[in-house]
Amino acid sequence: MKKFYIRTFGCQMNINDSQKMSGMLKTLGYEPTNNWEEADVILVNTCSVREKPDQKVLSALGEFKKVKNKNPDAIIGVCGCLAQRAGYEILQKAPYIDMVFGTTNIHHLPQLLEEAKQGNKAVEILEEIDENENQLDSYPTVRDNKYTAYVTVIRGCDKKCTYCIVPTTRGKERSRRIGEIIQEVQWLVEDGVKEIHLIGQNVTAYGKDLGDVKFYELLYAVANVDGVERIRFTTGHPRDLDINTIKAMADIPQVCEALHLPIQAGSDKILKAMDRGYTQKEYLEKIELLKKYIPDIALSTDIIVGFPGETYEDYLETVKVVKEVKYDQIFAFKYSPRPGTPAADLKMTEDPKTLSKWLTDLINIQKNIAFEKNLAYEGKKVEVLVEEEKDGKLVGRSRTNKLVYFEGKHNLLGKLVDVKITKANRFSLEGTINEKELQLI
Ligand code: SAH
Ligand code: SF4
Ligand code: F3S
Repeated sequence: MKKFYIRTFGCQMNINDSQKMSGMLKTLGYEPTNNWEEADVILVNTCSVREKPDQKVLSALGEFKKVKNKNPDAIIGVCGCLAQRAGYEILQKAPYIDMVFGTTNIHHLPQLLEEAKQGNKAVEILEEIDENENQLDSYPTVRDNKYTAYVTVIRGCDKKCTYCIVPTTRGKERSRRIGEIIQEVQWLVEDGVKEIHLIGQNVTAYGKDLGDVKFYELLYAVANVDGVERIRFTTGHPRDLDINTIKAMADIPQVCEALHLPIQAGSDKILKAMDRGYTQKEYLEKIELLKKYIPDIALSTDIIVGFPGETYEDYLETVKVVKEVKYDQIFAFKYSPRPGTPAADLKMTEDPKTLSKWLTDLINIQKNIAFEKNLAYEGKKVEVLVEEEKDGKLVGRSRTNKLVYFEGKHNLLGKLVDVKITKANRFSLEGTINEKELQLI
């Protein structure tokens, strides 16, 4: 049997696209391998959100090129956001690539592969969105995790954050029809999935382009599917997170008490320059509402340090928000100019060394907050979806997205169990289950 290997960079959208491409390649008779050296098809699904991922792609390609020494017929393909943005450039830098395709024509992979197998360069990067792109959704996903699954509900982004390449690489917002989403959720549940993770660059904008449905209605519809035990969604935009969504999160038992709500910066001056569409006060008001309606909610965020024009005082506003909100997790990065974005030509205010220090300080502040939050779990009981067995222990996630380790039998995999937390670590929790309850399950 022919084998394929996919290396994925970037966000949840890319991960889900790779899972669908795996499903597609399996349908074509290929089997997955974890070793690229024995693959007949290698796909690199790229991200272009910062400069680092761009560089990582090129070095990965340099490595994968060696596959052709042993297997000259092996096919190397590049897809995803960097391919959409700069596919022809990559082809020039790495002429040994056989296949390049963008983000809206992934469903053409079978035809492109056929062309590449004939010895042609198979290149298809579309400027316009392919109207049949949703065909991709009809393929099964091949997932590492049996019990949780991503479901794409909206593609693209209509926001115009001045630093961001995503609107260029993913195009305008396109929501999937609710019926198609529910159908996919039903298939996943039949396949043993317990937790549905709705994804999009901006899920809270779901339905705007369709006109007749809102994100909170989608939440209710997914919750109504028999067998859906948990629901998560990523990423919500603070501007589109409305009271109806917050109330639905509180009302629907399956929606987990966790939300990723990117703030990007604390200073109003910088938020305006980024064109985020909210002030620090407005953001904090939404956080207050979330905490009011969902008292145990775990919050996470994205932060950019050193956007052009950011002074030390501006940066301190970000630090202030981080301390005040007490996030469970933050994803903080230094600003990275992206070609073609409105901010690309703006002058950086601080030198990279200073920005690295700001970033490290921020991450260290957050480390202590996260540990404190984990410590508060000691002695409490949490519901865990048991996902896998690792080093003789069972591992799963709490509703608040904490990794929980405990001892238990294999037959608990895929079940929801109550775990009493006995020890908090920096990045995980440890606990025990009640033997009596164990008998009942
Ligand atoms: N749609 C999501 C985020 C998508 S990109 C949102 O609006 O929140 C993921 C994260 O990458 C962003 O939240 C941002 O923090 C970061 N990012 C995007 N462009 C960046 C850039 N030019 N430099 C540094 N970080 C960036
Ligand atoms: Fe990028 Fe802003 Fe869209 Fe998020 S909302 S993907 S940061 S443009
Ligand atoms: Fe990267 Fe594209 Fe996602 S740029 S963050 S893979 S949408």
